[in-house]
Amino acid sequence: MLKISIIGLGRMGLRHVQVARNLGLDIVGLCDANEQTLAGAAGTLELPSGVFYSDAGVMLSTARPDCLVIATTAPSHAGLVELAARSGVSMILCEKPMAVSLEECDAMIGICRSAGIRLAINHQMRFMEQYQLPKRMLAQPRFGGLTSVGVQAGNFGIAMNGTHYFEMFRFMTDESPIRVSAHFSKEAVPNPRGAQFKDAAGTVRIETESGQRFYMDCWTDQGHGVNAVYMARNGRITVDELAGELVAVVREAEHSELPTTRYGMPVETERLSITPADAVAPSAAVLSALIAGVDYPTGEDGRLAMEVLIAAHLSHENGGAVVSIGPELPRTLKLPIA
Ligand SMILES: NC(=O)c1ccc[n+]([C@@H]2O[C@H](COP(=O)([O-])OP(=O)(O)OC[C@H]3O[C@@H](n4cnc5c(N)ncnc54)[C@H](O)[C@@H]3O)[C@@H](O)[C@H]2O)c1
Repeated sequence: MLKISIIGLGRMGLRHVQVARNLGLDIVGLCDANEQTLAGAAGTLELPSGVFYSDAGVMLSTARPDCLVIATTAPSHAGLVELAARSGVSMILCEKPMAVSLEECDAMIGICRSAGIRLAINHQMRFMEQYQLPKRMLAQPRFGGLTSVGVQAGNFGIAMNGTHYFEMFRFMTDESPIRVSAHFSKEAVPNPRGAQFKDAAGTVRIETESGQRFYMDCWTDQGHGVNAVYMARNGRITVDELAGELVAVVREAEHSELPTTRYGMPVETERLSITPADAVAPSAAVLSALIAGVDYPTGEDGRLAMEVLIAAHLSHENGGAVVSIGPELPRTLKLPIA
């Protein structure tokens, strides 16, 4: 049976414990540096006391897992990947945001590549029905191709949730973003994970090489919901992600060739329900894919989401200027994200 360990037993770490249990893996070590959190987990998880550790290095050298899940906050991700690489794990699933700088992302990718470790970042979007279904529908010729993605959301944090949506846009378009612009709100809402963490709220626009667009608005004055709107040449798919409702409209076939200026033509309408997503099932899908070694979100995918995040910060600091994704982005800029 595959031996697994988890570092970080906060809200997300406990979900990963559930994932490991659901997949029938052998939990050989659980670690949290906070003694109170560790004691709380030991008291509720009904596992042998010997699996609980307060020091990640001690746990890795004693429990010797095959697979490690890093569910701590972002500033510790790079250091823990390095520690794990030295301890001989063969797979790492690291939480998003991947790290706090591009330099750290590169170090994580480099160290895993040279040690032959599979590295996945927990951007679960490709395994979630709320994206798989619109993607399949939009591939139908009657829609005429995806043109833009809009995300109107409550104040869910550009690093915390926005990075998931940057990966979602890459998944939906099968293209890498090339240009980013952003405006951030002046106000900041205190971060529930601690005063040392800050996350922006605001608007972000992304473009791909072929001209597909992404627009996200998660300003501080918006307090509810996540709606995604997928615009296509001949139709539109709207998903209320929290309610799990999808509405697709597409021009009747006889009108499909008319110019885009004829935007009010009669449509066929479809309404579908999507199973509301929790964080456990999609994380289990990522971990299963990592173990199987097929189609998991890689370190490179996590790094790309970080590039968009860094570009958005630069754009905001420069009055919303368009910033290109690529080697010119500052590798050492560190963000105070969780
Ligand atoms: N993929 C998703 O859907 C998803 C959802 C929620 C959170 N997250 C991510 O998961 C990570 C954790 O989030 P959370 O809500 O569980 O945070 P949290 O603050 O509740 O828990 C983090 C835990 O990590 C522990 N920790 C920090 N540094 C450590 C170290 N060096 N060694 C051992 N323990 C350490 C802390 O003591 C804390 O208990 C964040 O990066 C967050 O962005 C991802």
